[in-house]
Amino acid sequence: MTGNPRLARRLALVAFPVLLGACNGDEWLTDMKQQPSVGTWQKFSSDSAAADTIPFRGNPQGSVPVTGVAMTSWQVSYQALPFQIDSLAGIPNPTQPDARSLENGHKVYQINCAVCHGDLADGNGSLKQLNPAYGIAPSLILPMTQQRTDGYIFGMMRNGRGLMPSFNRIPEADRWDVVNYLRGLQGRYPVQAGPVGFPGQTGSALPGRSNVGPTVPVMHRKPSTDGITPKAEKAAEGAAKESKSGGHE
Ligand code: HEC
Repeated sequence: MTGNPRLARRLALVAFPVLLGACNGDEWLTDMKQQPSVGTWQKFSSDSAAADTIPFRGNPQGSVPVTGVAMTSWQVSYQALPFQIDSLAGIPNPTQPDARSLENGHKVYQINCAVCHGDLADGNGSLKQLNPAYGIAPSLILPMTQQRTDGYIFGMMRNGRGLMPSFNRIPEADRWDVVNYLRGLQGRYPVQAGPVGFPGQTGSALPGRSNVGPTVPVMHRKPSTDGITPKAEKAAEGAAKESKSGGHE
């Protein structure tokens, strides 16, 4: 900013509380995401004297996660660099490519990867179809990626590299399912390709809500047409609503 720096600072002092005030969740944003709540590991106590000193749901001291991680951050960092991916290449795949794994991999792949790498992993994702300039993602069914180890592909999801973001938010177990599914798309196992649901579809046919994060399906069900409202029915619904409310919303 040029101009008067003092004035700018004063203005900032005035604007700051106003901006914060506008974001007050109690008054303005009353959706589920913004509700008053205590996060899983957030420190919390209803006793005001102890407030913010007692972990709300802590682990016993010295306990370690029993599922473990394939590689910890002190072994291989989370930097999105080629060297990190290479050093993850030796991790063995612990997951059998059975029907469960391939089906789950299909869902997780569709949700996270298909937009860039395409339904068939040929690099022709919807992003590229939208605008060829967005076709940044390579095909994953060429010999180069076929010859990569499972650990390498796992590593790409853990760290990301270059223009590919990290998908570390996908739990490790599901990541191995994606690796298996990708091997299927590469021709090693027979797998289905394409969407697992349809835009606008609701109900039990879709992956459903997630206990872990917004990217992970929880229920394992086959796609169906349940919950798709036929167009004609939708139009009739709309007309009924309009006549009830007198055309005002
Ligand atoms: C935002 C678009 C985007 C998404 C989403 C995406 N990728 Fe990528 N992916 C890329 C780009 C760009 C590269 C090339 C990066 C490079 O070479 O440094 C890449 C490279 C890769 C490679 C390396 C190929 C090789 O042989 O070196 C693998 C494996 C891969 N992606 C798997 C996945 C998987 C699995 C997912 C879903 C969890 C995914 N990608 C999601 C953009 C994406």
